[in-house]
Amino acid sequence: MRFYELFLLSILLGVASSGEAMPKGEQPLSKIAIHNTILAFDKSAYIKASPFVLGLKGENTEWVTVEYGTPSPTNDDWIGVFSPANFSASLCPAENDRVSPPLLCTAPIKYQFANYSNGEYTGTGKGVLKLQLINQRSDFSFALFTGGLYSPKLLAVSNAVAFANPKAPVYPRLAQGKAWNEMTVTWTSGYSINEAEPFVEWGKQGGDQMRSPAGTLTFNRNSMCGAPARTVGWRDPGFIHTSFLKDLWPNSVYTYKVGHHLFNGTYVWSQTYSFRASPYPGQDSLQRVVIFGDMGKAEADGSNEYNNYQPGSLNTTHQLIRDLKNIDIIFHIGDICYANGYLSQWDQFTAQVEPITSKVPYMIASGNHERDWPGTGSFYGNMDSGGECGVPAETMFYTPAENRAKFWYSTDYGMFHFCIADTEHDWREGTEQYKFIENCLASADRQKQPWLIFLAHRVLGYSSGSFYAEEGSFEEPMGRESLQKLWQKYKVDIAVYGHVHNYERTCPIYENICTNKEKSHYQGPLNGTIHVVAGGGGASLADFTTIQTKWNYYKDHDFGFIKLTAFDHSNLLFEYKKSSDGKVYDSFRISRDYRDILACSVDSCPSMTLAS
Ligand SMILES: *[C@@H]1O[C@H](CO)[C@@H](O)[C@H](O)[C@H]1NC(C)=O
Ligand SMILES: *[C@@H]1O[C@H](CO)[C@@H](O)[C@H](O)[C@H]1NC(C)=O
Ligand SMILES: *[C@@H]1O[C@H](CO)[C@@H](O)[C@H](O)[C@H]1NC(C)=O
Ligand SMILES: *[C@@H]1O[C@H](CO)[C@@H](O)[C@H](O)[C@H]1NC(C)=O
Ligand SMILES: *[C@@H]1O[C@H](CO)[C@@H](O)[C@H](O)[C@H]1NC(C)=O
Ligand SMILES: [Fe+2]
Repeated sequence: MRFYELFLLSILLGVASSGEAMPKGEQPLSKIAIHNTILAFDKSAYIKASPFVLGLKGENTEWVTVEYGTPSPTNDDWIGVFSPANFSASLCPAENDRVSPPLLCTAPIKYQFANYSNGEYTGTGKGVLKLQLINQRSDFSFALFTGGLYSPKLLAVSNAVAFANPKAPVYPRLAQGKAWNEMTVTWTSGYSINEAEPFVEWGKQGGDQMRSPAGTLTFNRNSMCGAPARTVGWRDPGFIHTSFLKDLWPNSVYTYKVGHHLFNGTYVWSQTYSFRASPYPGQDSLQRVVIFGDMGKAEADGSNEYNNYQPGSLNTTHQLIRDLKNIDIIFHIGDICYANGYLSQWDQFTAQVEPITSKVPYMIASGNHERDWPGTGSFYGNMDSGGECGVPAETMFYTPAENRAKFWYSTDYGMFHFCIADTEHDWREGTEQYKFIENCLASADRQKQPWLIFLAHRVLGYSSGSFYAEEGSFEEPMGRESLQKLWQKYKVDIAVYGHVHNYERTCPIYENICTNKEKSHYQGPLNGTIHVVAGGGGASLADFTTIQTKWNYYKDHDFGFIKLTAFDHSNLLFEYKKSSDGKVYDSFRISRDYRDILACSVDSCPSMTLAS
């Protein structure tokens, strides 16, 4: 040990005297994995973190205080948060566009500039940061670097801090199962099936509690398709468990907690949560649905991270939490957390949305940032998933798809029938997905389920987003060409998309022509489908074209989400709310009866005989 430290020190002195002269991308220290927890590489630079043990009362989120100092401070100094604590500080230059600085072989789970909380840092050389950590199965260390993000030079590494039980079951997320009366609970833990049995203990609130087993999945580095997911962004995802709570009583409130039965007899529990079981398909009761795309995540402590461009995500999350008692089910239609191959961010996202996902079903769709990767069968061959090629999204969240790698599915919620498409796989006529979409739309009994909603990530319908306008398509190219006749034939009421980071609503429309002039209160047949872009969940906003299209009724260049409220079989309220204040900025109503849905308009009815 002593020999080892002396060896390090001698290298360090070498760095101190000739640091800047080192050839680019090479520094002796970078070759060394940091096995030891407290190592002052520069005798007078230091960094320390407290408390050492987190979550002593069972919390999965805690704040730590990090103190640091150096005799030669600069504005290029920064602090990286690493987990596991024994990271490698070697330099790993970018392998492709998706690998961004800091260019270390172990990507920090987040980082902050040393001058962040002390404007005088470059004078005093001292600083203190308050950082929020979540339980993500390993210990943490903090490292002080100088030299900026492109050629970082390690000055000091802190003591390790760790949660009392790093393997604890965390971040439960509910999703509807394949049947209307089945709720699935998915969570993450550090317990493999060789150590413990995962299960959910649940029952009606105040009633007997029973136990249901859970399945366990994980994935490894070889499941990733490219960098950074396969390289510097890789981080062990732990174990992802899903349990299926069946035969639920409609509308009943259930309580549940997730547990692991260790093979030595010990039980490890989460806290207790509750949810309301979904209504019977067709059931007449108040039903409230929230839909948005492209939310992403951000760090409550202001830290930077890879792909740091979702300034609205915390506001959206907080508005949903604030109004959660008035929300029954949520759809996050693609571009979930923008981890883009930096896997630690999946844990951070599930922690951010836990207050929501543990209480109401959180249904996701697949976006380009989950799925796209060249040569992997995605419809688009770009690198937007950072090498994830869909695996983390398909594993971290349950969806009632036949095949979770083909991310299309249907789900019922009372008087609503939802068809969720996957725009990262081909949807055009003749494809497997097209058949699914037609089947899904055809399977709604509109007397029972009058509200038929189509959801997808990219804008298959209409958008005034400037990048679509520049292509001249005002949609994802080839988007509506094959689908519009299905929407019309099956009388889809509303189609909602993300991908374009703003809000927009069209007239009821079919083949580019408004089928109804009304803007705020539709009575009788719509004669077309209302298309909505709700991509302002949190990622940096997208501009609109200056061209005023004739089908646009409302545009908002801001963060927000939509809410659909079905009062009964005849009355639906649509609202668009901003994430900043939760207030309604656009809305309309639909009032109509069953015969209005049956009524024929252009291309919406089968042929009839005049015989009687
Ligand atoms: C702190 O450092 C960052 C990164 O080098 C720099 O952009 C910022 O201007 C600095 N802040 C102050 C107050 O000097
Ligand atoms: C860091 O610790 C983990 C778990 O204890 C171990 O598997 C890994 O090999 C260590 N890495 C290094 C670079 O020492
Ligand atoms: C079982 O193992 C866990 C984790 O290793 C330990 O905390 C617990 O004390 C053990 N229980 C018994 C009864 O040995
Ligand atoms: C978040 O909400 C606050 C409070 O309403 C607002 O001041 C701020 O601008 C919002 N942030 C963004 C990025 O919209
Ligand atoms: C809907 O279409 C029918 C049949 O083409 C037509 O009679 C009716 O006026 C249309 N409704 C509206 C609101 O335009
Ligand atoms: Fe997208």
